[in-house]
Amino acid sequence: MSAYADHIATVRARFDAALAATGYESVLIYAGQPRVAFLDDNPAPYKVNPLFKYWVPVIESPKSAIFYQPGEKPVVFLFQPRDFWHAEVKVPEEEWQQYVELVVIDEQDKMTAWLGDKIKSAAFIGEDFAEPVASWPVKARNPANLIDHLHFHRAIKTAWEVDNMRHANRLAAKAHLAARDAFVAGASELEIHHAYLAAINFRESQVPYNSIVALNEHGAVLHYDVYETQAPAQSRSFLIDAGALYRGYCADITRTYARESGFFAELIESMDEAQQALLAEIKPGINYYELHVSQHLKIAKILADYGFVNGTAESIYEQGYTSAFFPHGLGHFIGLQVHDVGGFLANDRGDTIARDPRHPFLRLLRDVEIGQAFTIEPGLYVVDQLLEAHQGNADFNWDRIAQLRPYGGIRIEDSIVVGENGHNENLTRDAFASLA
Ligand code: GLY
Ligand code: MN
Ligand code: MN
Repeated sequence: MSAYADHIATVRARFDAALAATGYESVLIYAGQPRVAFLDDNPAPYKVNPLFKYWVPVIESPKSAIFYQPGEKPVVFLFQPRDFWHAEVKVPEEEWQQYVELVVIDEQDKMTAWLGDKIKSAAFIGEDFAEPVASWPVKARNPANLIDHLHFHRAIKTAWEVDNMRHANRLAAKAHLAARDAFVAGASELEIHHAYLAAINFRESQVPYNSIVALNEHGAVLHYDVYETQAPAQSRSFLIDAGALYRGYCADITRTYARESGFFAELIESMDEAQQALLAEIKPGINYYELHVSQHLKIAKILADYGFVNGTAESIYEQGYTSAFFPHGLGHFIGLQVHDVGGFLANDRGDTIARDPRHPFLRLLRDVEIGQAFTIEPGLYVVDQLLEAHQGNADFNWDRIAQLRPYGGIRIEDSIVVGENGHNENLTRDAFASLA
């Protein structure tokens, strides 16, 4: 069985189970369509429904849909507009077409005519802001119990999905190296951003999220996406969080660089060691929350070792000081979406795991299982807004923190696929190693 054959068999089985558990006879998954800006006729970049691309690696055919009834071949209604305004969508012959019934349509009414009364028993999954989709006589629209069931099981990746993520990581790693070279050459943030895209022949709408390309202090802005057009007089540090897509699957990689050897380069090295030490703790059965706390303790030790904060690792963590430097979560599921869903689901019935108010931004609370894919992305930044809460606290060495401020911060982010007993695959480090 090919990897894709195995994948689509798994997807079918997961839909069979989800439909049986929730009492629906069939499902209609709509790919979606671009929204236009208010009072305008320009479409925003289109992003396909992740549960559509779960079935078939088709990410650029808006208004398409998949109808699936357990026991029957899924029907892919591939929408190809036949007008002189748009370029024809080219669908190359590919393996997935052997496992579905392919129906090419140039009007959405052709799909409803084909389905006839069958549409009335289907659960619809997708966006329905536009007509005629909003008026389709489906049985239910985005039923939460069906979606929760699918999202819970989606956390375990098939071999085909992992292979796509390997490719995505190789693309992103190649672009990361080009970006690093541009930083070393003294480029501006926008020039670095362009170097990243050019290295893999991507246009901006093809990367899975807005790349974070941050020089100097900008590294402390967690979702910085400004892209200064002028290079700073002195580029001291560079934080880049940028990904790539391959067949609809995401890479999400962060690296941090120092221009010169010395204090900041050493701090990056220490964070890299702390991240790798954490990677060695990932084993089936451990809870992701425990990993998050373990990473906090390692960062607390770095804060003490470098003299940013006084105390032991435990006391620094217990007093909440690490959260001022490492405010975000350790990571998240990754796959069809950069922040893949289901991180809070306790089971496939939709029960959720209670969040800890101490770590409000942690998106993954599940037990680690073989086949899950998630990121591990510790950070350490000087975020003045967060440090304000500790003003006047003598445990904080403000002079030392002031030395770090001009560098912004550090984040190191890899994607991991969990294997048996700690034999995990690091998609990101493997990708960089393959390019060395
Ligand atoms: N690039 C977004 C994230 O790391 O979660
Ligand atoms: Mn991430
Ligand atoms: Mn990231």
